[in-house]
Amino acid sequence: TRRRLVLGIETSCDETGAAVVDECGSIVGECLHSQKEIHSKNGGIIPPVAQALHEQYIDHVVQNAMDAANIKWTDLSAVATTIMPGLALSLSVGLQYSKDVIKKTGLPFIPVHHMEAHALTIRMVERVEFPFLVFLVSGGHCIIAVARDLGNYLILGQTKDDAPGEAYDKIARKLKLNEHPQCIGMSGGQAIEHLAQTGDREVMKAYTPNLQSKDCTFSFSGVKSMVSQFISKEEKIQDVQAAQLSNINDIAAAFQFKVTHQLVKKIARAMIYCKENSLIDTCHQTMVLSGGVASNGYIRNAMQYVCNEYGYRFLCPPPKLCTDNGTMIAWTGMERLKRNIGIANEVQNIRYEPK
Ligand code: KG4
Ligand code: ZN
Repeated sequence: TRRRLVLGIETSCDETGAAVVDECGSIVGECLHSQKEIHSKNGGIIPPVAQALHEQYIDHVVQNAMDAANIKWTDLSAVATTIMPGLALSLSVGLQYSKDVIKKTGLPFIPVHHMEAHALTIRMVERVEFPFLVFLVSGGHCIIAVARDLGNYLILGQTKDDAPGEAYDKIARKLKLNEHPQCIGMSGGQAIEHLAQTGDREVMKAYTPNLQSKDCTFSFSGVKSMVSQFISKEEKIQDVQAAQLSNINDIAAAFQFKVTHQLVKKIARAMIYCKENSLIDTCHQTMVLSGGVASNGYIRNAMQYVCNEYGYRFLCPPPKLCTDNGTMIAWTGMERLKRNIGIANEVQNIRYEPK
């Protein structure tokens, strides 16, 4: 029998992604178009703008992913597409495109949950059996879950307000890091990580917020407003723009420490909870960190430390698979195809079926 191939399509937010993967998790072809630069000029994502850009690029992105390996529609076993969660206008582009393809080719359709795709990406590159602990940290999400099986996740905690990447981006904007000579071309998160490397976090000694509650819920609005107020105060004292503050590296380090401290405390709490409730087999405890913020080296080191303390194997997909991409959607489609779970046989009534 010939090897099966799945085409994955991602348009849930600001990346138009497509990829073809095989059963072993080899990427046969992939293509990604990022809208991040355009949205950062606009100061944030304007959904109709994102939609128009997805519409403009999707065919090119899909064709590129297939052409890379001379893939024809008849070589594919299925089309997998993100159907939730995300911006409705962005999602609709990938879904409409997929509907047209399915009508034209008769291929089976596999609806994919974007967060499940983030959680399962690691299984494409490493041997990880269910159940495992997964920590998703991005610009839109902060979730700790036990991945029990395909379509079966026990959510241990989420954020009550901002996601960590969102907090990084807001503080970076407050510090006007896009104007900082050392941070040219970096995202908000990268810029803060870079400056923090040579900063002293002791500049802000006050408490780290949200460590009192004995659960796995997150809140970043406290640390965000606290650091933001500190920046305003320093701007007045030093009488300069935020990007010129003499202690900007220290502020970046203090902010990064406070965010990381909360991530550490909560994942440790999750590990204790899993142990108390026998949720994860103690012989193969694995914790997977994924999402855009997982590309932060300081946070990865902290997670490695917690994993060592609690006897977990620590895994993190390579950075280009941590951020949004078509490959993770194709792989999740392949996982479902292999187990024959959640495959739609009609173009109409596409729904996400957990199991
Ligand atoms: O997963 P992603 O590409 O998009 C979604 O949010 O779904 O994540 C983007 C987020 C942005 O908020 C960005 O600032 C953050 O990840 N990020 C970082 C770093 N690189 C990207 N945050 C902290 N440190 C980094 N090095
Ligand atoms: Zn994402």
